[in-house]
Amino acid sequence: MTEQTGEIQGKYIPIDIQSFRNVTRDISFDIYLKLSGDNIAHVFSRSTGLDYKRLAQYIQKGIRELYIRVEDEDAYKIFISATTDSIFNDPRVSPEKKTATLLNMTEQNMSELFSQFNIAEETAHKAQTVVRSYVNLMIESPKTLGIILQLVSHGEYLYYHSIAVSIFSMFIAKASGQFHQKFMETVGMGGFLHDIGSTQIKKEVVSSPTALTEEQWCEMRSHTQLGLQMIQNTPGIPAEVCYIVYQHHEKMNGKGYPNGIFGPNIYYPAKIVAIADALSALISKRPFRPAYSVKEAIEIIRTEEGHFDKELVKLLPAIFLK
Ligand SMILES: [Fe+2]
Repeated sequence: MTEQTGEIQGKYIPIDIQSFRNVTRDISFDIYLKLSGDNIAHVFSRSTGLDYKRLAQYIQKGIRELYIRVEDEDAYKIFISATTDSIFNDPRVSPEKKTATLLNMTEQNMSELFSQFNIAEETAHKAQTVVRSYVNLMIESPKTLGIILQLVSHGEYLYYHSIAVSIFSMFIAKASGQFHQKFMETVGMGGFLHDIGSTQIKKEVVSSPTALTEEQWCEMRSHTQLGLQMIQNTPGIPAEVCYIVYQHHEKMNGKGYPNGIFGPNIYYPAKIVAIADALSALISKRPFRPAYSVKEAIEIIRTEEGHFDKELVKLLPAIFLK
């Protein structure tokens, strides 16, 4: 439904499209999009809620603003103040609403992620389908749903990072030529859950904007062991995923943790996830530094002596720089 925008002034208020990142899909107001010319279209309604996939498409197309009716301004302000953190931590919110919000966040984060790379549409589509399938799989059982909700309730960065590491891991695994499709999905799940142990560590340590003290570093380093404890013996999570979670901070030169094992003894998929982890972290904006470009990030990884598997690092430009 469209109408003339001659009426926009005084009737509609522009709002930043980015304000819909990581919010629930239930809206108590209608949302409009200004079209070219003098028209405004009704794009999301209070009866059906937000569609994150479509929202992500608008962002990709370069749309910066959406519109709401003037009389809905208060409802919008209340809506925007309810972040996903508060939703996932609120025991009064039903598991159904939490999972719907989680799936919507997943869709939007993946769409945003792919908009940063020049990856073939078919490959992107496949990776998205895989992530979607194991997020769905984990939602089906109360134990794995609990695990995934902890991941998301520990901050949007951790969840976004987990999706990125999952997808990058699958790309690197594929380019390595070492695995069949099914196993690549296992590597993807390992990437998705690699930092699950961080959910057991205080938020102020995990998201500290300043350098950590020695004691805090010690606590941070325990996330590999904590992650293993959380997921081992969990139906639906293969043992291979546990090895990945446990070993993703080991280094080729034996100076990593938790066990300081050397390259040949590190589980190969854990080496893949270690690189994906570094790449995702470097291209993300952090409180203490701006984001690096993909090219800069690959260069940093390449020159990090003794950390990563050199043969795997060599694959990165062909995968991520086109
Ligand atoms: Fe980690």
